[in-house]
Amino acid sequence: MSCSAPSFAPLPALILANTSIRSCRTLRDKRYDLLFEPVKIGPVTAKNRFYQVPHCTGLGRLRPRMLAALRGMKAEGGWGVVCTEYCSIHPASDDLPHPHASLWNDDDIKDHALMTEAVHRHGALAGAELWVGGARTANLYTRETAIDVTSMPNLAGHPYQSQAMDKSDIRELRRWHRNAALRAKEAGFDIVYVYATHGYLLSHFLSAHSNTRSDEYGGSMENRARLVRELIEDTKDAVGEKCAVAVRYSVGGDDGEDPSLTSERRDRLEMLAELPDLWDININDYYQEMGVSRFIKEGSLEEHMSFVKSITTKPVVTVGRFTSPDTMASQVRRGIVDFIGAARPSIADPFLPKKIEEGRLEEIRECIGCNICYAGDGLGVPIRCTQNPTMGEEWRRGWHPEQIPQKSSDASVLIVGAGPAGLEAARALGQRGYRVTLAEATRELGGRVARESTLPGLGEWRRVSDYRLGQIEAMPNVEVFRESELSVDEVLAVGADHLVMATGSTWRADGFGRTHPKPLTTLSTAARILTPDDIMAGQLPDGPTVIFDDDSFYMGGVIAEKVRRENVPVTLVTPENVVSAWCEYTSEHYQVQKNLLELGVDIKTGHSLLAYDGREVTLCCIHTERQQSIEAGALIMVTARSPRDELYQALKQRMEEGAQMPFRSLRRIGDCEAPAMIAAAVYAGHRYAREFDTEPDPDASCRLK
Ligand SMILES: Cc1cc2nc3c(=O)[nH]c(=O)nc-3n(C[C@H](O)[C@H](O)[C@H](O)COP(=O)(O)O)c2cc1C
Ligand code: SF4
Repeated sequence: MSCSAPSFAPLPALILANTSIRSCRTLRDKRYDLLFEPVKIGPVTAKNRFYQVPHCTGLGRLRPRMLAALRGMKAEGGWGVVCTEYCSIHPASDDLPHPHASLWNDDDIKDHALMTEAVHRHGALAGAELWVGGARTANLYTRETAIDVTSMPNLAGHPYQSQAMDKSDIRELRRWHRNAALRAKEAGFDIVYVYATHGYLLSHFLSAHSNTRSDEYGGSMENRARLVRELIEDTKDAVGEKCAVAVRYSVGGDDGEDPSLTSERRDRLEMLAELPDLWDININDYYQEMGVSRFIKEGSLEEHMSFVKSITTKPVVTVGRFTSPDTMASQVRRGIVDFIGAARPSIADPFLPKKIEEGRLEEIRECIGCNICYAGDGLGVPIRCTQNPTMGEEWRRGWHPEQIPQKSSDASVLIVGAGPAGLEAARALGQRGYRVTLAEATRELGGRVARESTLPGLGEWRRVSDYRLGQIEAMPNVEVFRESELSVDEVLAVGADHLVMATGSTWRADGFGRTHPKPLTTLSTAARILTPDDIMAGQLPDGPTVIFDDDSFYMGGVIAEKVRRENVPVTLVTPENVVSAWCEYTSEHYQVQKNLLELGVDIKTGHSLLAYDGREVTLCCIHTERQQSIEAGALIMVTARSPRDELYQALKQRMEEGAQMPFRSLRRIGDCEAPAMIAAAVYAGHRYAREFDTEPDPDASCRLK
């Protein structure tokens, strides 16, 4: 791996168009001035208060060039501090298949230097989060033995157990940590972390619950904090002259922890208060700290951490899916924090600080709290974001979140359908300068996003269409027509050079899905069978209802909540072992199941649907094939969707019949091509617009370094 500066995939030699179509740069609102004050962190100074806290990317040590470009983009967007993801100090802390960073050897130094150079180029500080997984890691890749405070079962559920650390292991750990800190310094990092939270090794040492040792590293609070104290001191000693030392630390929270443990967290923080140069504060409950908007709103950690600044003179950062500059400024003004910490808001909009600085608040692409970004970590693949389709594509495709090549012709484009794919295609084509006509069949713009955001907890999802509509509104070259359901002849009459069908999809009512590869023939035609589309359109069942969720992402659970809140008895049936199984990847599964159980939804896992005669739903256990019946006045199918591609197919047929067509190309994008998650639809719209009138690199998606 070469140590040269990251080589961004070259953009075509075209003039770039900024996202900002309002050319005048207004001055920022005075109320936000304090967000742009420099803050000293030990020996270094951050240029402002915007702090990208550590977050993984599905890239880590596997794809350093993609990573460097991604982090460099955040720095370009104005973040004063940009950190790595969790960064292993030794092969005995290996989390693959979850891609993490590492500082194991000199090759790693070169890889990280790509990132620090990219970050420094824009005047930001770079932070490295040194990490030891302990019993959370099974070391599946390195095959080293995991170590922890005691010998305990692997906490990620793998059939391994950690080795209890003796004194010589603790000495070794301190040596590894010191060496990793020295490598971090050599790689150019300005901030080096001691990572003492999130259920990894150091949090086990700290906790009276898991630390049952009888030596000087166990017993009293002071003893249990000894290793963390030593690591802070070691790191200061090794790199403290040049680098700031930060500690990521949990102050407690509502995760059912014994209150005495939570009060000890405060006492311990008081004891260590002045040791590091910065406190990065979070809470025990990851489901809240990184909560989806369905359950957790902006700034939710404040009630747990607001005391921290009263017990330390060191700068404090915390998180809370901050997208509102008013909330940010208020947190600083009220003395809650010194830095505005952000993972997801910086993913959804790497240019959030710049937009606040330049008074372009309406251009902020606000995070919707869907946690699709987190799924990449669980799946071991590069990060993607629903709001920001360029995330992860900075190096591989050379995509910039704010800039896009200017148009290279005077071609006009008709887009049919103003859902997430159509809106993003219209926005990005409009940004490039093309003449765009966007036709939507209904009165409301936003497609599935507009509909789904009416479901319980999903209100913030509307930000997907709000952001795009706000941009489009200011584009004189993009015309939007509502209530314009077009026929083939009407499409042709528009006279556009290029046609894009983005007409979405509809939920199927016939049982077809993963479990049943053909429509069920055992459904009575007289039975009341509904789909999520019907529920979103206001057709609610009024008697006992069965939901068959063969989709297993969020929709089945959300529909169950919606119907149950109408006081209707609901049974949610799924062939999976848990409800909303894919929500494990978005780190919300626990809350989904808890919420449904608390609402009184009857959950039946491991069952598939056999038949419905209008009075009884017949189910079958997927393990024993035993059948059972449940009385139900309605059945809601959450199984699969059909692309709404009739218009596309009709136009294509005309072309195939040899008719002379007045347009040059016909494409379908998003759910109309292949129904998938909203992130995929936004991406499809963006990709269409990026590649329009160009010769895209066919190998771009293979470029994974
Ligand atoms: C995709 C993703 C990956 C994350 N990876 C890490 C990590 O490697 N280390 C860490 O300390 N926290 C990690 N976090 C937690 C964040 O640092 C942060 O505490 C959390 O997302 C809440 O902040 P936010 O509301 O600004 O997103 C991750 C969060 C996200 C969204
Ligand atoms: S994927 Fe969703 S939660 Fe993650 S940053 Fe993007 S919008 Fe926010």
